[in-house]
Amino acid sequence: MDIEKILVVGAGLMGSGIAQVAAQSGYHVILNDTKREFVDRGLNNIIKQLDSQVKKEKITPIDRDATIGRIQQSANLEDGRDANFVIEAVFEDLETKKGIYRKLDSVCRKGVIFASNTSSIPITTLASGTSRPENFIGLHFFSPVPVMRLVEIIRGLKTSGETVEITEKIAARMKKESVRVKDVPGFLVNRVNAAFRAEVYQCLLEGVASLEDIDKAIKLGLNHPMGPFELGDFVGLEIGLSVFKTLYDGYKDPKFRPALILEKLVQSGDLGKKTGKGWYDYSSGERKPRTDIVF
Ligand SMILES: NC(=O)c1ccc[n+]([C@@H]2O[C@H](COP(=O)([O-])OP(=O)(O)OC[C@H]3O[C@@H](n4cnc5c(N)ncnc54)[C@H](O)[C@@H]3O)[C@@H](O)[C@H]2O)c1
Repeated sequence: MDIEKILVVGAGLMGSGIAQVAAQSGYHVILNDTKREFVDRGLNNIIKQLDSQVKKEKITPIDRDATIGRIQQSANLEDGRDANFVIEAVFEDLETKKGIYRKLDSVCRKGVIFASNTSSIPITTLASGTSRPENFIGLHFFSPVPVMRLVEIIRGLKTSGETVEITEKIAARMKKESVRVKDVPGFLVNRVNAAFRAEVYQCLLEGVASLEDIDKAIKLGLNHPMGPFELGDFVGLEIGLSVFKTLYDGYKDPKFRPALILEKLVQSGDLGKKTGKGWYDYSSGERKPRTDIVF
């Protein structure tokens, strides 16, 4: 099956990144969100990214314009009726995702593959809410999508071999390296990363070093491009928390028990960079240590 038109549902951090790489790989993309203003925000982010690539002479202005020309904006899922592949990247909330898949099931033709970018919801659970579990798959990108080279490809219990192969081809055309991962809680990268972060939170709790020094140490000592707290703020604390909850529920292993401070931050609405505060304070426009709470 030749895939040419991809519907991306959710134009947030991940959805806009996915739409960008898909359009840069020559796919026609329908970028959908609940409101036109959210789609506009997603498209503006893409334009900013492309402009910076033009500035760095990685692409030409003609490439940029052609990429933008391949992205159709949509605030109505019905616009996706001609798509032959769907990538869903909406809020990490089971009910929201289930509602979208119910609708997509009636909008999209039989055989169209649904790929979820979920970080933590079992693919088999999402697939069971559709009439096409054989055409349902996990396609887990990493943030920032245009930069990170990996995707995890997660096969649900009933995902067909053909669905896996088509998805791998799409990932390759988007210049991503893929790994096949079982549909287990946290998949692979988030599971390993959560175990590491649990240790980081424990060090913070014990006062082994300050939050800023932990970030500095991990960056310089382990050569990570971002410290764990910086990265947590970039990704969104609610996403990190939902990964811990999934892992804890799934494995019942105390090492995955969500850290109380992480739960409190999420409860207070401090979700990281996007809300202005998380582990750090971004309200001045720069990343600064928080002075209003003691970790
Ligand atoms: N943030 C990360 O680093 C990261 C990494 C890998 C996977 N993920 C996963 O990607 C998904 C999206 O995460 P994000 O960080 O982009 O979130 P986000 O909050 O930036 O964006 C979510 C978008 O979904 C939209 N949305 C909500 N309900 C919708 C609906 N019914 N129809 C269409 N759009 C709808 C919202 O308006 C919003 O624009 C989640 O499942 C998350 O777990 C996130």
